[in-house]
Amino acid sequence: MSYKLLFVCLGNICRSPSAENIMKHLLTEAGLSDRVYCDSAGTASYHIGAPPDRRMQAAAKRRGLELTGCARQFEATDFEVFDLILAMDRSNYEDIRRQDPKGQYADKVKLMCDFAREHGDREVPDPYYGGPEGFNYVIDLLLDACSGLLAELQQAGSV
Ligand code: 4NP
Repeated sequence: MSYKLLFVCLGNICRSPSAENIMKHLLTEAGLSDRVYCDSAGTASYHIGAPPDRRMQAAAKRRGLELTGCARQFEATDFEVFDLILAMDRSNYEDIRRQDPKGQYADKVKLMCDFAREHGDREVPDPYYGGPEGFNYVIDLLLDACSGLLAELQQAGSV
């Protein structure tokens, strides 16, 4: 059975689909794509069914990455299905934790930036209302954090 990762942001059209696709890319490069299942979701419902934002796709393409996906909303059953849930920012983290009032899944929910090794950011900044440089930054930060996450999963013997 594969290890299951869920990446979560607000809309599931910018940050979390980028994290999902970057992680899949790194896993394929490492020959581990059959050991880890990756998915993403948003805490909000605004963009359900939408593909990744065009500006996010363009930023990914500049780094040679393709983004695919169809936005969905985070749901409480995700706590059971996934082994690790990665929140892009603190607000996403709080929104997820609020759906687990007994705190029984608290250990499964972490901030994506906890795994970054080259960036000091505590959150993946929301690029939605900014210019292209914000989208480029998200890709670079997520490449760092996803590579740190993969290293940690390997070290822990999870994959
Ligand atoms: P995401 O970005 O959470 O990284 O997908 C956003 C997408 C949509 C909105 C905000 C952030 N919005 O306000 O519609």
